[in-house]
Amino acid sequence: MGKGSGYGKVILFGEHFVVHGVPGIVSAIDSSTDAIVTKAKSGLTIKDERKTAKGYSEEKRLQQIESIERILNAMQLDPKTPLDIWIGGSLPGFSGLGASAASSVAIARAIGEELGLKLSNERINQLAYEAEIAYAGNPSGIDNTAATYGGLMWFKKNPVGGPDFVERLNVQGQIEIVICSTGKVANTKAMVEGVAERKKADSIKYGALFEQAESIAVAGRKALEAGDLKEVGKFMNKSHQILQEIGVSSVELDHLVDVARKQGAIGAKLTGGGGGGCMVALTPSESLQSRVADAFKAEGFEILTTKIGAIIR
Ligand code: PMV
Repeated sequence: MGKGSGYGKVILFGEHFVVHGVPGIVSAIDSSTDAIVTKAKSGLTIKDERKTAKGYSEEKRLQQIESIERILNAMQLDPKTPLDIWIGGSLPGFSGLGASAASSVAIARAIGEELGLKLSNERINQLAYEAEIAYAGNPSGIDNTAATYGGLMWFKKNPVGGPDFVERLNVQGQIEIVICSTGKVANTKAMVEGVAERKKADSIKYGALFEQAESIAVAGRKALEAGDLKEVGKFMNKSHQILQEIGVSSVELDHLVDVARKQGAIGAKLTGGGGGGCMVALTPSESLQSRVADAFKAEGFEILTTKIGAIIR
């Protein structure tokens, strides 16, 4: 029996833009997916006991099977190697929290342990990237990197396919956030493809938006490192605006962002692929965090209250 786990994540700046080489900022969160893998006699059995948004497991099932075959293939093993896989842990299967990357890291680690392979974090990260292709089509690598290593990071995809450019960010203490799920399962692959198509069709508009995304990431980083959370919040709000402009927000996400801001969140934006999935609100202090969380709960939404800048593996 082999075991493994991988962190969930929240993207503060740069989702979608990172796929095209713009830098972004991601933080792992203190919820993870765990996997247990046992060699089997025949076939692949997956027992998925994660708490999920309605329909998540069904929607992701084929991508999940492909992702496991991709991991095995990248390990130079038969992609049909018979395995029993259990998946669980504290990270809910909500779109936007890097649940697919967290599960891929967990499964890659557990397969490695079960088969007695000594896999470095670097190798696990590569395997999880391979797995992410099944879920995202053309992933940036930001999710698997956060899921593998944890912590708060500056991430820039390597345009020619070598190691990505990753830097740990130092922030003072921990900052409270609220993550709220729209309850809608999103198809990351379709969202990523949609942005690529629109970018191709309107290169002038998108070129300007991509430049803005880069400036926001740079300014957001400076504000985070200086501990100026009001500024961080301001740039998160700007980030939501450009995500709306590239067509990845939704009525539900915009509503949740409004609710958070009305309750005093100093910044709020969608996080991850959008089109459903989750939003994140910056709520530094436990009282503000509770107020925003209670407002979401009162409307029947599911939330996660956590902190960023907290975890390093
Ligand atoms: O929705 P999630 O948790 O899969 O996040 C996707 C993040 C994207 O930037 C949209 C895609 C990527 O690979 O970076």
